[in-house]
Amino acid sequence: MKILIINGPNLNLLGVREPSVYGNKGFEHYFEELKENFASIDLTSFQSNHEGEIIDKLHEVGFSYDGIVLNAGAYTHTSAAIGDAIASIKTPVIEVHISNVHARETFRHHSYLAKYCKGVLCGFGLDSYRLAIQSFTY
Ligand code: DQA
Repeated sequence: MKILIINGPNLNLLGVREPSVYGNKGFEHYFEELKENFASIDLTSFQSNHEGEIIDKLHEVGFSYDGIVLNAGAYTHTSAAIGDAIASIKTPVIEVHISNVHARETFRHHSYLAKYCKGVLCGFGLDSYRLAIQSFTY
């Protein structure tokens, strides 16, 4: 099973960025733990701060991978283009967020992506990624 995690803008700064919201752990360290936990899955990750690169990556893997776990960061709340990309591909996408976006500012309550996703997970900290991957194994 091939699963790709895509992290969007500012998620390269996990562990440094607003630790009271996003925690103290960097993503690379967490990703190593994930790979150990899901040793039988071909798990890869990609991060970009650029909307078009995220769209290109969705197109690249979206007809051959078994699942995509997408934390599009703030593009979740702004990007009709990423929503369209998810609608255009075959691979199921799960939208994830580290924080509970519904308990935060109003602009974070709307997602341009959720409608086209298999499901949405938010508010479980980094564990949101693990829960999303686990759901692909059911
Ligand atoms: C986030 C929530 C978004 O609203 C925010 O813009 C992010 C991170 C999360 O993981 O909680 O960059 O996607």
